[in-house]
Amino acid sequence: MHARVRSQIPRLTLLAVAAGAALSLASCGGGDDDDDDLDPALVSQGQQIFRSETFGDETFFTDVLRLHEPVATVDPTTALAVGLKVDSEALPPEVVAGIQDGSISLTDPATTIALLKLNAVVGLKGQVDANNNLVRLGVTCAICHSTVDDSFAKGVGKRLDGWPNRDLNVGAIIALSPALPADVKAVYNSWGPGMYDARFNIVDGGTPFHGDGINKPSVIPPAYGLRGIDKTTFTGDGDNIAYWNRYVAVTQFGGHGTFTEPRLNLNIKNGTDDLVSDKLPALQEYQLSLNAPRPPSGSFDVAAAIRGQQLFNGKAQCVTCHSGEHFTDANDRLHPQSDSMALETAPTHADRSATKQYRTSPLRGIWQHPPYFHDGSAATLEVVVDRYNTRRSLGLSATEKADLVQYLKSL
Ligand code: HEC
Ligand code: HEC
Repeated sequence: MHARVRSQIPRLTLLAVAAGAALSLASCGGGDDDDDDLDPALVSQGQQIFRSETFGDETFFTDVLRLHEPVATVDPTTALAVGLKVDSEALPPEVVAGIQDGSISLTDPATTIALLKLNAVVGLKGQVDANNNLVRLGVTCAICHSTVDDSFAKGVGKRLDGWPNRDLNVGAIIALSPALPADVKAVYNSWGPGMYDARFNIVDGGTPFHGDGINKPSVIPPAYGLRGIDKTTFTGDGDNIAYWNRYVAVTQFGGHGTFTEPRLNLNIKNGTDDLVSDKLPALQEYQLSLNAPRPPSGSFDVAAAIRGQQLFNGKAQCVTCHSGEHFTDANDRLHPQSDSMALETAPTHADRSATKQYRTSPLRGIWQHPPYFHDGSAATLEVVVDRYNTRRSLGLSATEKADLVQYLKSL
């Protein structure tokens, strides 16, 4: 139902504002194509996989990295400080009450074990034995691509799947591994929150360090708003989401299965079994069901956004690449590296990809996930617009730039 309505939004909005009605530009924001073409059973199976499936990656995170050892000594306060999130809906009432009255300590590592037992730590899957020892630890997609709404406390709330966890210092967590040499730890520790380098380290045959050895992380992008967009990742490497999901599950998680990419000369195999392939269709279906979130009401100036929309489609030339319903031409073409407004030196992120090019980023929900560009080099939408204005000599005035920013906030 949304698809038809969506295509009329610009016209509707202009009419509505002209008529003095307070119709939000994003009145249909976050909606994507019709939900009808998605299979609900597959979607719910995919949700389970997205949140809880490790693809057997305990072989890597437990047996090779021994991450269960340091994690068992980390208290919840410290875990929250490195950006891990707690799913409040997984907490039984007595635990909620205990946290509230202080009888359950958030500075006691035993509480971390209890939370892992409840499957309440978003993106971490632990196995705890009868003596409350953490014996196996694995990682799921949700660690990077989910956050929570903070409705219970900072870092504790309902899951928001598809939202990138820009608080997560995943490098610092991996660097806790007692199995890593100091120089590799230093690389992981250099990334900072919300950043990850999916080419630095590749797990092959259960062992790490088959990556390209370059240290240039990118921001963790959203996994929502992708329905109708064939090319995924900043560089448009695959023709569907499943391509990249397989890349991550096998080469990054060390999950059991294979990943082959002739363009990068990659032929990776972990384990003798395949715990990845049969999960990809449902996992993809779930991600396709994740719509980009609408901007909170009152978060942008409607009148300015209307003016900004005209600039986006006119003087500022944004629409020449950010076209169509998803604000991207990704299904038609990729772009030379010179079209990216990121600040980077060789070897670039695209140099390390299969396509060597960049995909025009979709813009629905853009308000939600600063910083911008694949390298996170634009802290705000103001910086984004400024950079385009300068580099593409658009000649936008201060007011025009401000209007364009309001429009971007409305998407
Ligand atoms: C350690 C953090 C991390 C984990 C875990 C992770 N990802 Fe990602 N994901 C990233 C980063 C970083 C990128 C950007 C890669 C690029 O463009 O080069 C990305 C890209 C993506 C994209 C492309 C988004 C777009 O705009 O096209 C999707 C979809 C995605 N991941 C889904 C998943 C799924 C499903 C899993 C579990 C199998 C997963 N990710 C696990 C960090 C992570
Ligand atoms: C020539 C094609 C082209 C034009 C014109 C263009 N963009 Fe982009 N845009 C891209 C590409 C490619 C990327 C991805 C760059 C990267 O991450 O390195 C991008 C990324 C972005 C991002 C960051 C998205 C994210 O998820 O971080 C924003 C915001 C954006 N563009 C807004 C605009 C605005 C506003 C205009 C008009 C002033 C504009 N773009 C004009 C191609 C274009």
